[in-house]
Amino acid sequence: MLACPELDAGRVASPAYVIDLEVLERNLQLLAHVQEASGCTILLALKGFAAWSTFPVVGKYLDGVAASGSDEARLGAEELGKQVHTYCPAFDESSLRETIRYSDHVVFNSPSQVDRFRAIIDEHTPAKSFGLRINPQHSEVDVALYDPCAPGSRLGTTRAALSQADLRGIDGLHFHTLCELGADALQRTLAVIEDRFEPWLTRAKWVNFGGGHHITKAGYDVRLLIDLVRDFKQRHGVDVFLEPGEAIGLNAGVLVASVLDIVENDGPVAILDTSATAHMPDVLEMPYRPQIRDAAEPGKLAHTYRLGGLSCLAGDMIGEYSFAEPLEVGDRLLFEDMAHYTMVKTSTFNGVRLPSIALYDPRDDSYRVQRRFDYADYRNRLS
Ligand SMILES: Cc1ncc(COP(=O)(O)O)c(C=O)c1O
Repeated sequence: MLACPELDAGRVASPAYVIDLEVLERNLQLLAHVQEASGCTILLALKGFAAWSTFPVVGKYLDGVAASGSDEARLGAEELGKQVHTYCPAFDESSLRETIRYSDHVVFNSPSQVDRFRAIIDEHTPAKSFGLRINPQHSEVDVALYDPCAPGSRLGTTRAALSQADLRGIDGLHFHTLCELGADALQRTLAVIEDRFEPWLTRAKWVNFGGGHHITKAGYDVRLLIDLVRDFKQRHGVDVFLEPGEAIGLNAGVLVASVLDIVENDGPVAILDTSATAHMPDVLEMPYRPQIRDAAEPGKLAHTYRLGGLSCLAGDMIGEYSFAEPLEVGDRLLFEDMAHYTMVKTSTFNGVRLPSIALYDPRDDSYRVQRRFDYADYRNRLS
């Protein structure tokens, strides 16, 4: 399902991320079904989607958030007000204390962090529950940038490191090894974990399966996920948590941008009021080619353009697209699937202004701009 199918882009003050509340709610309803049928708890990973004006909808279906540090933990506690589970690759004492203040579960990355902060763990047990991230050294992700199990990874404790560890005070295990993957990848991962980490599973009260589960993508095997979770819970007597980010925001928003100019250099180049590097960084990092509504591969439709961003970075290029009609200054373009890993990653690099954030509900055609950014947002990031 496309976000904002009926939205008249002319209504939107460009550039803007527009979140479709109906799609968001459908995603959440599917996740609620998984929770109910499998008995797991699903947390929203704020690193992927943190548009807190939508939290009243999120809170209807999910029991909390997964945070990556004290600021995300605080946002979850204050804006959603449900469970907060925080994992961070490394804490110092003050960030740990701040994190604990806002979190129910705190997950360490290494036994050395557990040793270093044992007194703080003891001080807060049993009011808070502590866990350790493991690294099963089983890769399912092809892109090294997103593979926590790549050789030499700093993320999680390997089986070898775990055998030396003193895990007094640690209730749970956490792993995060997937990215945009199906339940089959989880099935293979669980088999490796059960094989390599059995003694620690026996002692665990809970296991967090991390994120990367593409549950709301068409074709995801929801039945298999439910069976895997149920089975795992039963065999090990543990509570199971999942913390997807992308699955919550998948296809739930668009980025509306406008054509500012068209220049000629070995073909026409349209300069937009958005930026790959500042507003959709995964286009360059992953890299991937975003879909644009009513546009096609270069050469497929009559008029082909290279689309470029507003920053001065030479590589701030979004890609080559064709359109049925020639582009004109002022035309609006709708970039699909721009709700997750966009708003959370934007920067004001080059002084490019941040896109507004708007909510649209196709069920009653209501459109509301939640936030407009201005000079103060640029200035306040610096000093
Ligand atoms: C520890 C952890 N949990 C959850 C997630 C969310 O993953 P996704 O948005 O792919 O579901 C990530 C993403 O990097 C992560 O690092």
